[in-house]
Amino acid sequence: MIVISKVKELEEAVEAFRHEGKSVGLVPTMGALHEGHLSLVKRCREENGVVVVSVFVNPTQFNNKEDLRTYPRTEEADKALLAKAGCDIVFMPTVEEVYPEPDTRVFDLGKVAEVMEGAMRPGHFNGVAQIVSKLFMMVKPDRAYFGEKDFQQIAVIRQMVKSEGFKLQIVPCPIVREADGLAKSSRNVRLSPEARSIAPNIYRILCESVDYAKSHSVAETTQFVTDGINSYPEMEVEYYQIVDGLSLMPVADWNDSDYIVGCVTVYCGGVRLIDNIAYKK
Ligand code: PAF
Repeated sequence: MIVISKVKELEEAVEAFRHEGKSVGLVPTMGALHEGHLSLVKRCREENGVVVVSVFVNPTQFNNKEDLRTYPRTEEADKALLAKAGCDIVFMPTVEEVYPEPDTRVFDLGKVAEVMEGAMRPGHFNGVAQIVSKLFMMVKPDRAYFGEKDFQQIAVIRQMVKSEGFKLQIVPCPIVREADGLAKSSRNVRLSPEARSIAPNIYRILCESVDYAKSHSVAETTQFVTDGINSYPEMEVEYYQIVDGLSLMPVADWNDSDYIVGCVTVYCGGVRLIDNIAYKK
């Protein structure tokens, strides 16, 4: 595995592999790697001649300075995990290397970026589009891999790919969960033991809501999930929205779409967790 911190070296290394006729897969990450990330690397390994993983805590997507400051950073452990997972190139640049000048680009991300996370975290998705588009320009991957935990992020990146005219395949990969159902996330390490013990109830309630939805309306199911999670004093739902899985627009009726997903954000002991579940697929 080659560890690279300079953009020029990254471009040259990828080009050399491409010259050998190899297809290029990219897994963008912010490090603090867990099995969720490793499942993306595994899939990328299976489907490409070269596996590039970026490890970069992108400041432009953080609308909360404290979240950026305390974001877990585990570079050495990340490198060891990536080498074992069959990564060919890991790109670990500094902020100055990626942003030698402030990135002032404003992306046309459409309505998918305005709802849910877009409404709660102003500027977040534009920051994601800035870094992901830079990585796409540096690596020129044939495929890029993203986890479905960040369900809305995938829709936003698809929109960015369309509006910027990138030619690559976006590959969504299923959520990886702990044995007790909690979606794996780099932020889980911030949970206190007490918060960690109640956090799996988010997914339990989402699963129960799929059954509940069979005999209840969208509005009733939304209430079921919100009330269920809020019944734990340490947890507070920021939003629960049941949306069309492609447009991300809220649905009012189960017959409104063939692809319906519920997306939740919960503060659990002060840590912001997100998760989602499909009602129709
Ligand atoms: O999902 C993430 O970890 C980040 O948003 C991404 C896609 C690596 C961009 O910084």
